[in-house]
Amino acid sequence: MTQEAAQSARASEISLNQLMLPEHANALGNVHGGVLMKMVDEAGAIAAMRHAHKPCVTIAIDSMTFKQPVHLGQLLVCQARVTYVGKSAIEVQVLVHAENVMTREITHTNSAYLVYVSLGPDGKSATAPPLLLETEEDRSLFAAGEQRQHRRTGR
Ligand SMILES: CC(C)(COP(=O)(O)OP(=O)(O)OC[C@H]1O[C@@H](n2cnc3c(N)ncnc32)[C@H](O)[C@@H]1OP(=O)(O)O)[C@@H](O)C(=O)NCCC(=O)NCCS
Repeated sequence: MTQEAAQSARASEISLNQLMLPEHANALGNVHGGVLMKMVDEAGAIAAMRHAHKPCVTIAIDSMTFKQPVHLGQLLVCQARVTYVGKSAIEVQVLVHAENVMTREITHTNSAYLVYVSLGPDGKSATAPPLLLETEEDRSLFAAGEQRQHRRTGR
C-alpha cells in the first residue's frame, strides 16, 4: 500500500467555539465538566479526522485538570492541533479557554492530550499520513508526544 503524503499540523488544526448557555450548567450554575470534556473530544476528533481523511475514534484521553470554572455566558474555545502521529494513532493537543465576549477577557481553563485511531473501511486501525514537521515547535511537540505515547502503550 502506498503511503500518503505527510501533512502539517496547520492543515488540520481547528478552533471549536460555543457560547455557554443554561443547558450547559451544573447544579452550581457553572459549566458542567462533562460538557467541557465532550467539546474537547469533539475538537480533537475533528483535527484527527482532518489529518487522517478517515473516520477516527478516541482510544485514550490523558488526565484533565480544570483550573478555573467556566461561567454561563462565556464563549468556550477549544483549539485542537495534531502533535504526534504513529502508524494509526494520532495525538491531538486541545487547549481550552473561556472568553468574556464583551470585555474580551480570556481565562485559560485547561489543556489535554487525546489519542485517536484512524479506521479503515473494515473498522480496524488504518495508517494515517505522517506528520510534516515544519518548525522547531512542531519537532518539540512531536518528540514529547512520542514519549507520552510510549508511556501510554508501555513500549
Ligand atoms: C480503536 C480500535 C479500533 C483499535 O483497535 P486495534 O486495531 O486492535 O488496535 P491496535 O492494537 O492496532 O492499536 C491501534 C493504535 O492505537 C495505539 N494504542 C493502543 N492502545 C493505546 C492506548 N492505551 N493509548 C494510546 N494509544 C494506544 C496503538 O499503539 C496503535 O498505534 P499505531 O498504529 O500508531 O502503532 C479499538 O480499540 C476500538 O474500537 N476501541 C473503541 C473506540 C471507541 O469506541 N472510542 C470511543 C468513542 S469514539
